[in-house]
Amino acid sequence: MAQSGSPRYKVVVCRNLGPDVMPLLESRHELELVIWPEDRACNRKWLLENIPGATGVIVMLTDKVDSELLDKAGPSLRTVSTMSVGYEHIDLKAVSKRGLKIGYTPDVLTDAVADLSVMLALMAGRNGGIGYSLVLNGGWPNFSWAPFGLCGPQLSTTVLSPTRKVGFIGFGRISQATLSRLVPFGITHCLYASNPSSPPNLQHDAELQSKYNLKAVLKVDLDELARESDVLIVLAPGGPSTYHVVNEDFLRKMKKTSVLVNTSRGTLVDSDALAKALREGWIWGAGLDVVEGEPNVPKDHPLVKEPKCVIVPHIASATLETRKHMATHAAQNLIAAILGGDMPAQVDL
Ligand code: DGY
Repeated sequence: MAQSGSPRYKVVVCRNLGPDVMPLLESRHELELVIWPEDRACNRKWLLENIPGATGVIVMLTDKVDSELLDKAGPSLRTVSTMSVGYEHIDLKAVSKRGLKIGYTPDVLTDAVADLSVMLALMAGRNGGIGYSLVLNGGWPNFSWAPFGLCGPQLSTTVLSPTRKVGFIGFGRISQATLSRLVPFGITHCLYASNPSSPPNLQHDAELQSKYNLKAVLKVDLDELARESDVLIVLAPGGPSTYHVVNEDFLRKMKKTSVLVNTSRGTLVDSDALAKALREGWIWGAGLDVVEGEPNVPKDHPLVKEPKCVIVPHIASATLETRKHMATHAAQNLIAAILGGDMPAQVDL
């Protein structure tokens, strides 16, 4: 507990972290908490008005951390703690120039995001969106079982399709956790494309191949990835280097029966090109947790209008357990950066 008269550190919290996690912050009497009071994304104007003199700030991926905000905060600011694994909303140059520590929440959301990636692959391949809307709209009475009614490509291997190749854009923790979930479906090959400047880790790939008894685990170029993948899962960080990596050219190379899943950031996929690909049948379907420009994805968005596109509103990490973990790590990162101790996870700047 702070001695009376000892300084208190102002901390701005951009979203209430709930009854299980807020006490972690509230019990630290050295901290003077200023909490965004509403149950919606923090208002920028409110944040700019409240940030001056703060020592720390807990942000969500909906809060932009840029020079304007950091200048407003002033020299007292020591840390930015984000409740997310992605940190594209934080201007890293501006932060490192000021010598600030950034906390984030990797690892704890890996399983939840991998689970949802598989869900979307199944939903998109097996016409889950079309079938669900049909029932919701009262269409089942007019849809009787038919030999090939609402058929889609099977994710698991069969006698008729003994080879199944999963492709990943980005091959970090979440991709590998997703691969482990797909192995029991009989996936035979794992292909991935990642940072072209980093050489393939042949030993690691060989270990994965033997662990899962696959025919191959292989780093390939984007052309080969597009051409060969039956299921293509986008799981790389956002930012300029991955902007629209899935574009018209890429989509045109994919198989007509392939399924695209994006559980990373909307900016990696060109929405207009994807809508065209679905409309014209270049690929089978898409499952999206993220869309460029979200949350501005209205009913008449080109992708929402595509029946073969299943979209959920950025909920890949939204399990009760994972969000509690993420919020806890965000609070612990902030406390450690201000009061001392090890941050659970700090971004290497
Ligand atoms: C993250 O933490 O970056 C995820 O996108 C949240 O779901």
